[in-house]
Amino acid sequence: MTEIERKNLIVQACDARQHAHAPYSKFLVGAALLTESGEIIVGCNVENGSYGLTICAERVAFGTAVASGHRRFPALAVATTGGHAPCGACRQVASEFCKDLFVLLIDADHPDRAVETSLAELLPGRFVFPSE
Ligand code: THU
Repeated sequence: MTEIERKNLIVQACDARQHAHAPYSKFLVGAALLTESGEIIVGCNVENGSYGLTICAERVAFGTAVASGHRRFPALAVATTGGHAPCGACRQVASEFCKDLFVLLIDADHPDRAVETSLAELLPGRFVFPSE
């Protein structure tokens, strides 16, 4: 990932966060996914009055990217207040497409202080379908 891609990923994750539909938790999440070809696909959390139907920002980004024909992703940025890490479900979904995913955790109030981690660090022992 280039320095420009890294900066764009952070900006776009923060921008996508502003589109979050989170009237219940009020916890806004933005995700920006870098594709192998250098495009950036974003997602935000989309909550529902039937709480269990809520979709996380990261899974919205993965679903949108896959629907556009992308399958490989070198990096993901997630923006929240506080710079929180993705939930377990999103880590598992990411692992379907990413053997080696670089992850940037962004505190939306301090986007210049992104914390760097990786899917390998966040999700050891992912579930793999037996026939894989
Ligand atoms: N959320 C995400 O968007 N991504 C995560 O990885 C964890 C949680 C959302 C779901 C819900 O709208 C809100 O944050 C509070 O759980």
